Amino acid sequence: MNLHFTPEQEMLRKLVREFAEKEIAPQVPRMEAEDAFPAAILKKMGELGLMGIPIPEAWGGAGMDFTSYILAIEEISKVSPAVGVILSVHTSVATYPILTFGTAEQKKRYVPKLATGEWLGAFALTEPHAGSDAASIRTTAVKKGDRYILNGTKVFITSGGHADVYITFAVTDPTKGAKGITAFIVEKDTPGFVVGKKEKKMGLHGSSTTALIFEDAEVPAENRLGEEGEGFTIAMANLDGGRIGIAAQALGIAEGAFAHALAYAKERKQFGKPIAEQQAIQFKLADMATRIEAARLLVYRAAALRDRGLPCGKEASMAKCFASDTAMWVATEAVQIFGGYGYTKEYPVERYFRDAKITQIYEGTNQIQRLVIARRLLKA
Ligand code: CAA
Repeated sequence: MNLHFTPEQEMLRKLVREFAEKEIAPQVPRMEAEDAFPAAILKKMGELGLMGIPIPEAWGGAGMDFTSYILAIEEISKVSPAVGVILSVHTSVATYPILTFGTAEQKKRYVPKLATGEWLGAFALTEPHAGSDAASIRTTAVKKGDRYILNGTKVFITSGGHADVYITFAVTDPTKGAKGITAFIVEKDTPGFVVGKKEKKMGLHGSSTTALIFEDAEVPAENRLGEEGEGFTIAMANLDGGRIGIAAQALGIAEGAFAHALAYAKERKQFGKPIAEQQAIQFKLADMATRIEAARLLVYRAAALRDRGLPCGKEASMAKCFASDTAMWVATEAVQIFGGYGYTKEYPVERYFRDAKITQIYEGTNQIQRLVIARRLLKA
């Protein structure tokens, strides 16, 4: 395995790091305090080509590889995991499904707008009673002439209310379970489609999370993505890539929390010397750095497999599971190193602590990741 990045990958990483520090970091306090959606940041990211990093140039993207995209999510998430998740969902599970399963017409209509950031994408699978058991969704789609009529409710939809396009999953044949689910491209102005309640979340302030309500929503038949019954496969296949994105987000959170903890440990004096000179703190820092390095290798390896077009579902789940557990653990240790100050909003580690938690839950809980890993092991 080549552990070196190409000059192009390094250049993108530098560009994104500088962008995150200069353009995103100053906005984080407002996003935190007001739960303000970072529309202006996303616009600038679109101008820089960051909203379509791995999308071919012919479709309006930057034409870079998947690893470059993963490096960008990692860098952004060091500063703002909220912006990181918006980018990950937009690219991995909103743009990619259209690029890989869309008709020529669908690709022409949607991919360039998404890849340039003119439009924002979302992914609507989860329902109030169907989280981990995604195949048990109840939103229905019934074909009537040249339209499908959708009825049902989605919850926890990232970028709800701000996205222009929602990749939506609904049941077209209730007798077939997972094989009776179909995917649709739903535009925000679709009649009968409304954005529901916005969640007040523990963390990821600035990233909007809402319900979506479909009440006799009329979706043109040409907006069906893939064949009838192919929806669950479309969801799962794209979640493989999506989970590498979330793993990179978690890695960024761990790295961000660690950088603050390391700097503070060198500065904070107790018993007449910096706490970094106490072995108790040194051992914490050593363990934090080691786990981050292990997470980094898993994330980059999963991305490298994806770049080579090789199966990466197991590796994506391993990376997502390990990196998110690492993010939570490192953020917890970072709060501990800051002591009482770490428990206040004066310092950023409490934010990383809150932001880390969701990475163990969304895009499949870490229990579901273990299930996916075990199934692959047993199948092999
Ligand atoms: N790639 C392609 N197709 C796949 C696949 C994959 N990785 N995994 C499954 N499939 C297809 C197969 O065709 C399979 O059929 P076969 O039996 O013929 O192979 C079919 O789907 C059904 O698969 P399963 O039998 O494995 O289905 P299951 O009901 O046992 O569920 C599961 C599997 C892994 C538990 C799945 O339900 C799951 O991933 N649950 C978690 C849900 C999730 O990740 N939600 C994320 C929401 S999005 C989000 O969080 C975004 C955000 O905001 C950050």
